[in-house]
Amino acid sequence: MTTPPVGIHDLSFATTHYALDHALLADRLGVDPNKFYLGIGQETMSVAAADEDIVTIAAAAAQPIIDRHGVDHIRTVLLATESGVDQSKSAGLYLHPLIGLPNTARVVELKQACYGGTAGLQFAAGLIARDPSQRVLVIATDIAKYELDTPGEPTQGAAAVAMLVSANPAILRLEPHSGLYSADIMDFWRPNYRTAALVDGKTSVNAYQKATQEAWTDYRRHGGRDLGEFAAFCYHQPFTRMAFKAHRHLLESQGFTADTAAIDAAIRHTTSYNRTVGNSYTASLYLGLVSLLDHADDLTDQPIAFISYGSGSVAEFFSGTLQPGYHDHLRTDANRSAVTTRVPLGYDRYRELHEARTPTDGRYHAIPEETTRPFRLAAISGHKRIYESR
Ligand code: HMG
Repeated sequence: MTTPPVGIHDLSFATTHYALDHALLADRLGVDPNKFYLGIGQETMSVAAADEDIVTIAAAAAQPIIDRHGVDHIRTVLLATESGVDQSKSAGLYLHPLIGLPNTARVVELKQACYGGTAGLQFAAGLIARDPSQRVLVIATDIAKYELDTPGEPTQGAAAVAMLVSANPAILRLEPHSGLYSADIMDFWRPNYRTAALVDGKTSVNAYQKATQEAWTDYRRHGGRDLGEFAAFCYHQPFTRMAFKAHRHLLESQGFTADTAAIDAAIRHTTSYNRTVGNSYTASLYLGLVSLLDHADDLTDQPIAFISYGSGSVAEFFSGTLQPGYHDHLRTDANRSAVTTRVPLGYDRYRELHEARTPTDGRYHAIPEETTRPFRLAAISGHKRIYESR
């Protein structure tokens, strides 16, 4: 029996109500804004309103997929996040009623820092190889939060990417080769009692580059393509300049010329949305893919490289090919509008939102309406999160 190709059949992205301009942050921190624009490659960052969280943006990303394809063949929902709202219950179950997911599905949350979305995609591919009639909804959703006035602060952000994974996909066919690298490193972590991540910034940048090279070596060892074959490289982007650094490192490690033009050609179209959304942890790599598809000329039948990195750390190098007609399935207008319709956020409100804490007394707390996006967190009552859709 031949197995049909498996991959991404539909792809949708959502982000938050607010955007904070890096010029405001540079002014308050007393640094040259070019450190952010050029040094780390970020212009604005998405910031969640008080009534938004990873569930509301995940629902907003997934809803257009459900509207287009229905839920009939969805037997599994894999939600990847490292900004979970509950230690036990999967965030996928909180969004279950919001977007009308079927009861006849397994719903699970996955975690390994920014790598979780890739775990979801690969697990989905395995399930579909076993039964090609089934579809898997994979959602990567995160709000990246560092302490105020730290080097990590300008690399915050938020987004969700939802992917419908199926046999005979309309957008991207996953290739079977995969390169893996895992190692126990304390480069970035968030103990259960903290709302903001801890990070050793320089260690994390070096760990990311080393993991990329090791995963690439493993990819080749397992029969993957030559480096020169790829039309584009989608990297995990904690800040867009990181993709540039990692690609330069990879090219140099393999004896290729790593001039700026060559690196830009490989990654340019993948960075547009991340540059304005910021780090979206699990969603970041797939936001890079959304950006590539919305900005590049026709890539039909072209191989694309994916480099997933999650601190801690796990990395994976894998590849996929764009399917004939993929253009007809993109959501370019909606994606652009998700970015351009964000409301500019003032610095004082940004700090208030950053410092706000979830009530823990179990009483009823209504959350005033702030977001204009399709889903919101309406209240917290009896330690339960109560969501509503518009
Ligand atoms: P920093 O110490 O504030 O910045 O932190 P810097 O001093 O290293 O400067 C950054 C760059 O800006 C440098 O360029 C400067 O030269 C340049 P580089 O040497 O790197 O090429 N610069 C300027 N350029 C133009 N005009 C100027 C100017 N001034 C300086 N005026 C750091 C930077 C990334 C460490 C910090 O933002 C941080 O800690 N970020 C959080 C950690 C992070 O994002 N790590 C990335 C790899 S780990 C990862 O990706 C996983 C993660 O997503 C989490 C997960 O997996 O869940 C984070």
